[in-house]
Amino acid sequence: MTTSLWRQHILPFTVILGLLAAVTVAGDFVLHRLGLVWVGRYLGIPGTILIIGSLIYSLRKRKFITSGNPKTLLQLHEFTAWLGSSMVLIHAGIHFNAILPWLATFAMGINVVSGMVGKMLLDRSRRHVQGQREHYNLRGLSRPEVEQAVFWNAVTLDAMTKWRKVHIPIFIAFSVLAVGHIISIFLFWAWI
Ligand code: HEM
Repeated sequence: MTTSLWRQHILPFTVILGLLAAVTVAGDFVLHRLGLVWVGRYLGIPGTILIIGSLIYSLRKRKFITSGNPKTLLQLHEFTAWLGSSMVLIHAGIHFNAILPWLATFAMGINVVSGMVGKMLLDRSRRHVQGQREHYNLRGLSRPEVEQAVFWNAVTLDAMTKWRKVHIPIFIAFSVLAVGHIISIFLFWAWI
């Protein structure tokens, strides 16, 4: 009960996020090694499609669509957003020519982290801190003593709540930047 929030919840979360970075670096490395950098250029398209697909959950949640199991759609949202983001990250690769797409990528990164905090950590962590409070209450600690004992975990929890709140505004910023990048590329390719 008294183990830190960090070790029980945040560390596994960090590992999964690290996996996203590892997949990105490995993917980009393999494409460069095989001389297939052009494939990475086109990975932006399926990546974007997957991210757009992940929004089905948001439509279901806000009742714009009424069919589909919300729990399954939430799992699908997490998976497709993660996979789409890793494709977009490989697509971004190690090329630096333009600011706009990098701003979009930065916003996407914050989006992924905030989403993961909300979906993976917040509920479990809330229960963790609540469990600790109950544990100390049962041991007869006074209210200030209980708050003192859970202080750092409560601070961590508070910071995580803020991350959760950033998810939708940062998604909007990400969309605007990504659309700007995509339109400029499509103009360049004379696709529009
Ligand atoms: C339909 C989807 C997309 C297409 C067709 C596309 C296409 C491209 C192309 C052709 C380039 C190469 C530009 C160059 O060599 O100068 C590029 C670069 C890049 N794209 Fe995309 N992209 C898409 C989606 C995205 C998204 C959603 C993001 C980020 C969230 C993104 C981030 C980047 C980044 C960071 C670069 C590297 C920019 C640089 O060289 O400085 N792309 N994209």
